[in-house]
Amino acid sequence: MIYTLTLNPALDRTLIVEHLKFEDANRVKKELRFAGGKGIDVSRVLNELGHESIALGFVGGYDGMELEGRLLNEGINCDFVKIAEETRINVFIEKERGGKRTSLHAKGPRISPSELAVLYNKVKNLQPSPSWFVMSGSLPPGLSDNIYAQFIHLMRDRGVKVFLDSDGIPLKKGIEAVPFAIKPNLFELERLKGKKFRNNKEIISFGKKLVAKGIKFVLISMAEEGMLLLSDDASLKATPPEVKVKSSIGAGDASVAGFIYAYEKKMSPGDCLKMAIACGTATALTPGTALCKKEDVKRIIKKCKVADVE
Ligand SMILES: Nc1ncnc2c1ncn2[C@@H]1O[C@H](COP(=O)(O)OP(=O)(O)OP(=O)(O)O)[C@@H](O)[C@H]1O
Ligand SMILES: [Mg+2]
Repeated sequence: MIYTLTLNPALDRTLIVEHLKFEDANRVKKELRFAGGKGIDVSRVLNELGHESIALGFVGGYDGMELEGRLLNEGINCDFVKIAEETRINVFIEKERGGKRTSLHAKGPRISPSELAVLYNKVKNLQPSPSWFVMSGSLPPGLSDNIYAQFIHLMRDRGVKVFLDSDGIPLKKGIEAVPFAIKPNLFELERLKGKKFRNNKEIISFGKKLVAKGIKFVLISMAEEGMLLLSDDASLKATPPEVKVKSSIGAGDASVAGFIYAYEKKMSPGDCLKMAIACGTATALTPGTALCKKEDVKRIIKKCKVADVE
């Protein structure tokens, strides 16, 4: 079974307004609500591709219940730990015409030590047993930035493939615990290195150093430029076709799902990479926080190209 872990999920509310001005009343014309969070996005894209997964994480209060109910309605299995504080709400404000948008991201509820212990014990005893354990996104207040590393140790001892997609110190510490796969974007990779890259050669050479630590697949996403895959026996770059982009929010999460989906179908590393970018690029076609559609993925993958890089 594929498990996704979202420690800081959110109920995403998109408010469509005619105009947005300070010191004025801005009327909301339409409102959309979604279950949000990076691991949850991975579960939703796997579901769209026709693959089962179970979403784990923390939810609290009525907003947490709504988040869980929305996932269940989409056909996604959940096994969340209930917490005392309320799940956060992220607000996306979009102008009806002109496509301008802004967003407000809450910090998230504080997780108490006992709530963390409930999650940890759940993860230790997962049934059915995990094949993949995907950990994505930021940490809510109350958790140590060593948490991803701790879960990686737990999962590696059980032979589970861990996919880590995070940023900053949690990513840095997670990498030291050697996950199976990571997918930083260029900004995350630069923060990891502590320095800007001057060219592609530097990016590839830094990625290869991560492979040398024992990470089986280092995927580096570069928005419309596509993605690199570095591993012991392959160094590849996949390029998507040019598309009319609506919003690339969640493109990275969709690529994580695409890669895992293809890997589970026993595809070659090159084809897993193609599936990763096809899901990412298909997500860029959809508005706001909406993720990819299977039909778009099928159409786009035919136009994705993979080549060796050195
Ligand atoms: N503007 C775009 N045009 C075409 N494809 C895109 C675009 N942005 C993203 N993609 C596709 O999605 C993949 C992942 O995108 P990106 O590098 O933006 O991930 P990310 O920064 O982790 O995104 P997020 O964290 O918002 O999910 C890219 O490799 C590419 O295939
Ligand atoms: Mg990302």
